[in-house]
Amino acid sequence: MLNTFILSLNPKVSYLPENDKIVLQFRDRKLTFKQPTIGFRLALNSLKVGKGVTKKELINLVQQEDGICGLFTFNSYLQKLISLGWIYHSIDSLTTAIPLAEDYEFLMPTIDWQKTSFTLSRFAYLHQVNGQMILESPLSKAQVLLHSGHSLAIIAKLAQPQTYTSLLQEFSTLNEAKIKLFLNLLVATQTVNDSSESQLEDTLAQWDFHDLLFHSRSRKGRHNQPTGATYRFQGKIQPLPAVKSSISSKIIKLYQPNIKRLKTKDISLTEALETRRSIRNYAQIPINAKEIGEFLYRTARVKQIIKSKQGEYTSRPYPSGGGLYELELYPLIHNCQGINSGFYHYDPLAHQLCLLSELNQDTEKMLKDAWLASGKHNQPQILISIAARFTRLSWKYESIAYSLILKHVGVLYQTMYLVATAMNLAPCALGSGNADLFTKVAATNYYAESSVGEFILGSNPIVK
Ligand SMILES: Cc1cc2nc3c(=O)[nH]c(=O)nc-3n(C[C@H](O)[C@H](O)[C@H](O)COP(=O)(O)O)c2cc1C
Repeated sequence: MLNTFILSLNPKVSYLPENDKIVLQFRDRKLTFKQPTIGFRLALNSLKVGKGVTKKELINLVQQEDGICGLFTFNSYLQKLISLGWIYHSIDSLTTAIPLAEDYEFLMPTIDWQKTSFTLSRFAYLHQVNGQMILESPLSKAQVLLHSGHSLAIIAKLAQPQTYTSLLQEFSTLNEAKIKLFLNLLVATQTVNDSSESQLEDTLAQWDFHDLLFHSRSRKGRHNQPTGATYRFQGKIQPLPAVKSSISSKIIKLYQPNIKRLKTKDISLTEALETRRSIRNYAQIPINAKEIGEFLYRTARVKQIIKSKQGEYTSRPYPSGGGLYELELYPLIHNCQGINSGFYHYDPLAHQLCLLSELNQDTEKMLKDAWLASGKHNQPQILISIAARFTRLSWKYESIAYSLILKHVGVLYQTMYLVATAMNLAPCALGSGNADLFTKVAATNYYAESSVGEFILGSNPIVK
C-alpha cells in the first residue's frame, strides 16, 4: 500500500519533445528545457503518462540515469512545475488535488499525530461538477477531487473536530498511512485547518463564507475559470434587448428638463460633491411629478441607441460595463404631488412611468423595510428599487457578471446623489433589501430579474 503522493502532470499541459529541448505549455505560459538529460526526459514521461508516479520513483529514475548532479537540477525543475500549478497530487483511490492557479504551494505540514485536531474549514464546500464531487475553498488555490465514498465520509466526519486516532477508529477498513496522507493533503490545500492555524483568525472571522467565495471567484488569482468578455452564449441563446419594453398599459408621461438650460443654471460639480449628504427626513410638502421627471431624466434615461454586430447598446447619464445597462428602475411612489401612489417601472427610452400595481400589503412591507434600513426616520416619499436583468451581462461576461452589477449599482447611486443634490432633494442609498419580495411585487423571475439595490428620495426639509 502506498504511503506517499502520486504525482502527475496536468493533462492539459502540452508536451513537445524535440532533439535538443522540451517545451511544456499551458495556456499562455511556456517552459523550455534546453538539452534535457535522459533522466529528466524519462521522469517527465512518467509524470505525463498513465497513473502517475511517486517522488521516490522519480528520484530513483533520475539518479540512475543522470547521477546525483542531475538529481539536484531535477528537484528544482519539479518545484518549478509544482509552483506553476501543473502537478497534481493524488492518493490512489481516494482523492486528487488539482491546482487552480500559479504561485501554488503544496507544503507538507508538520503534524503531531497524537495531539492535532482537524476540522473542515467553514469556507470549504462540496459540489458536483461534471459528475464528480469536488471540495473547494476560497482559502485554497487547489480543488480536491473526491473519488470515493470513503473520502466523502471522512469529509463529513470532519464537520466536527477529529484527531487522527478518532478517524482511524471510525474508518478501520482504511489503511493508516492513507488516512494520514489524506489529512496531509487536506491541510496542504487549506480545506482542513489544523488547530495550529490561527495567524489570520481575527481577519477571517470577519469574512462571511459567501463574501469570501464571491471575492475569490470574481477576481483573478485563485481560480482557473475564463474571466471577462467571453461571449459564451453567442449563437446559443439570444441576448436580451438593450431596453426592457414597457410592461403596463397605464402610463404616465414624465416631465423632461431642458439640459441646455441646466448646464448654465446648475450648481457646480464641486458644490454638488461638497454639499451632498444622505437625508432621511422630508419637508412637509412632498416631492412632485416634475421633480421625479427631472430626476429620472438626469440619472437614468436612454440618450442614444447604438447598433453593432454584437447587438444593441445604449448610452445613459451614468457609465456601465460594455454599455449593456442591465439595471432597471422601479419607483414605488408613496407620497408625491401629481402622481398617484403605486409601484411603477421606469421606461428609460420613452421616459415614462408604467404602473405595475397599486399600493398593497407587499408594497407596504417594502416601504417598512426601507424605513427600518434608513434608521426609522420619515416614511420614504419615493423608494426606488434597482433591479438587474442578470443575463444581459452574463451573456457576455463570465466570472465577473454579478460583481459588475454591484459596481453599476454604486455608479448609479452616486449619480442619483449628485443629481438630487443639484435639485435640492433628499437622497439616501440603502444597503439592504428583499429580492424575493421585489419579484412578488414586480412579477419578475428571481433568477432573470430581481432587486440589487434601493434608493430613497423625497423633498428636502432644508430650503436652500
Ligand atoms: C452603498 C451604500 C449603502 C448605504 N446603506 C444605507 C442604509 O442602509 N441606511 C442608511 O440610512 N444609509 C445608508 N447609506 C448612506 C450612508 O450611511 C451615508 O452615505 C454615510 O453615512 C455618509 O453620510 P453622507 O452620505 O451624508 O455623506 C448607504 C450609502 C451607500 C453608498
